[in-house]
Amino acid sequence: MKHEGLFTPYRIAEARIENRITRTLIFDAPMEGIQPGQYVMAWLPGCGEKPFSISGDEPLAITVADVGSFSHALTQLEQGDPVWIRGPFGVGFSLSGERHLLVGGGYGAAPLSLLARCAMEKGHTVAVALGAKTESDLMLVSIFRKMGCQVYLATEDGSVGVKGLVTGVLEKAFVEINPETLYACGPNPMLMRLARITREENLPVQLSFEALIRCGVGLCGSCELPEAVCLKLGIRPGFLICHDGPVVRV
Ligand SMILES: Cc1cc2nc3c(=O)[nH]c(=O)nc-3n(C[C@H](O)[C@H](O)[C@H](O)COP(=O)(O)OP(=O)(O)OC[C@H]3O[C@@H](n4cnc5c(N)ncnc54)[C@H](O)[C@@H]3O)c2cc1C
Ligand code: FES
Repeated sequence: MKHEGLFTPYRIAEARIENRITRTLIFDAPMEGIQPGQYVMAWLPGCGEKPFSISGDEPLAITVADVGSFSHALTQLEQGDPVWIRGPFGVGFSLSGERHLLVGGGYGAAPLSLLARCAMEKGHTVAVALGAKTESDLMLVSIFRKMGCQVYLATEDGSVGVKGLVTGVLEKAFVEINPETLYACGPNPMLMRLARITREENLPVQLSFEALIRCGVGLCGSCELPEAVCLKLGIRPGFLICHDGPVVRV
């Protein structure tokens, strides 16, 4: 399989249902040399092209929430249908230490499952905190548990786990796991809250941000992290999510 800027046609081998709006598209071939947290650009001719975090490498998989026209088209695909893929792109997560706390909101759980697998293969301790609006919006819970990760859940309506935001379970996880590094993927407001909490705890953190990605190779500037966010995170202004990220180490 070819990587870099060229499209490779992959076919869907399986479309696994994760929750009421999310499907994991498992393709018919692997993608080599992936760092968890990197992303691919998925193209459907006549429909568009968008970035998706890599949720599996052997074979390649992406996990897609149906929230708009492009993601809807992807989630309607069936076994055997082609998707044109280029990548892997960006800078992903890098395991640091041996006790890891992974925090996911929404489909942010997807890249974390690949990171968890890599850490478990090394014999490390992995705890995963997942948050969603309600129980049926959570995803990959059983997959993390099967891997042997300790799982903490939070739902905004209290239907399962702690009632409230995922940040509400962190104190317990800090005490029980004593993590050396926190890794997170999810909505940007969640990431900013985590940046503040980890600064107070003096805990190294790696945060995977989202932005409007067009070229995917650092040329068009559409994915630049706002200067105010860079200053809050203590990173240099002009950070390009597609090329310098999506993972920001703070
Ligand atoms: C680095 C990176 C990794 C990404 N990884 C994934 C991934 O693993 N899985 C995935 O599903 N998407 C992922 N995305 C988002 C994806 O690229 C698209 O933006 C998303 O699928 C929406 O595209 P759309 O054309 O379907 O909807 P759009 O037409 O762009 O949006 C439709 C509506 O949905 C809203 N919306 C957009 N995104 C979300 C969201 N996440 N939740 C709720 N509402 C939303 C928009 O504000 C808009 O109102 C990633 C984005 C980036 C930058
Ligand atoms: S998407 Fe073009 S510079 Fe990042």
